[in-house]
Amino acid sequence: MSTREHAITEFKRHFGDPPAFVVRAPGRVNLIGEHTDYNDGFVLPLAIDRAVWIALRPASTKQVVLHALDLNQSAEFSLKNIKHENQEWVEYVKGTAWALQQAGYLLAGWEGLITSSIPIGAGLSSSAALELAAARAFAAVSGYPWDAVKMARIGQQAERDWVGVNCGIMDQMISALGRAGHALLMDCRSLKTNLVPLPPDMAVVVLDTATRRGLVDSAYNIRRQQCNVAARFFGVPALRDVSRDEFDAKAAALDPVVFRRARHVIEENFRTRDAVQAMSRKDAAKLGRLINASHASLRDDFEVSSPQLDQMVDCAQQESACYGARMTGAGFGGCAIAIVQSEAVHDFCETVTINYQKAAGLKPEIYVCTATDGATTSAI
Ligand code: GLA
Repeated sequence: MSTREHAITEFKRHFGDPPAFVVRAPGRVNLIGEHTDYNDGFVLPLAIDRAVWIALRPASTKQVVLHALDLNQSAEFSLKNIKHENQEWVEYVKGTAWALQQAGYLLAGWEGLITSSIPIGAGLSSSAALELAAARAFAAVSGYPWDAVKMARIGQQAERDWVGVNCGIMDQMISALGRAGHALLMDCRSLKTNLVPLPPDMAVVVLDTATRRGLVDSAYNIRRQQCNVAARFFGVPALRDVSRDEFDAKAAALDPVVFRRARHVIEENFRTRDAVQAMSRKDAAKLGRLINASHASLRDDFEVSSPQLDQMVDCAQQESACYGARMTGAGFGGCAIAIVQSEAVHDFCETVTINYQKAAGLKPEIYVCTATDGATTSAI
């Protein structure tokens, strides 16, 4: 049974009648362009075939009544007076409602059953997917038109100002705007996007280390501050505006840690645009080298990898069918990705599973992902 059918069946079981809509918002992996979004830079993510699904029907009241199937938890809140109660997953839905109301949307209540195939804390953006699925649910019952970029901003606002995680815009944008068979080059300043087709002979493999990120929020915020210090040093609004020449001419006067943080961001922006060129020339080998260089920079200059992510990336890079591998997302645990020759991908997954288990003593989850469309709504 598909996740969609499962959500419909379980909705009927829980709420008694069939749902009126099913909404879905995907998680993501980022091919390259890590920790660049909050520096107004470039990212190249794709939406994956793991998603948050909500089966729902409109309510006649202003209540939002929720059941999280996978956690077996229920919750409800009133749209008349949304209060912060620190109820974990519910806060992402509340935060989305709050941000929509702040933006002037008139919201109707609903009853919904939530289920997800995105592991939590694995760096695959389960929270952005929940925000975008909630935005889709509110749009379905309240009758406002869907504007993907606006909804991505709403999701980011929910996460930043309601949940309290000072994230960039990449995860919400790709969950809203992803396209099947494509990665999306995003300019995180203008929010202009370009679709980049994924070469058919190249598989994108998710390498879940079976570790979950720990104190990521504080480390993430420190990285953001260090990037801001560097931008101020160069007298620009964001590190995106620093050229290589300018960096080479002035950076020696920076604090050594800030120097390395800035070098990562500046070089990663070049790598991301080079990666798009390599993909358009179908040059998987070049793309792989850029991806490997991104990992080294995240490990050594930005210092957001972890021993398990490094072990996983090493195991992947050792395989001849692998063009390149790197951690993906914020870091400190969770998932890496590899791009691999399609015809050899089955053996690749088997070998890396065995080798990582030997190296790290943990059982990983390794699978090929496909690029999917962004958040969708279907009426039942
Ligand atoms: C998290 C954030 C994104 C981005 C990445 C790192 O996923 O939510 O905005 O900053 O980390 O690239």
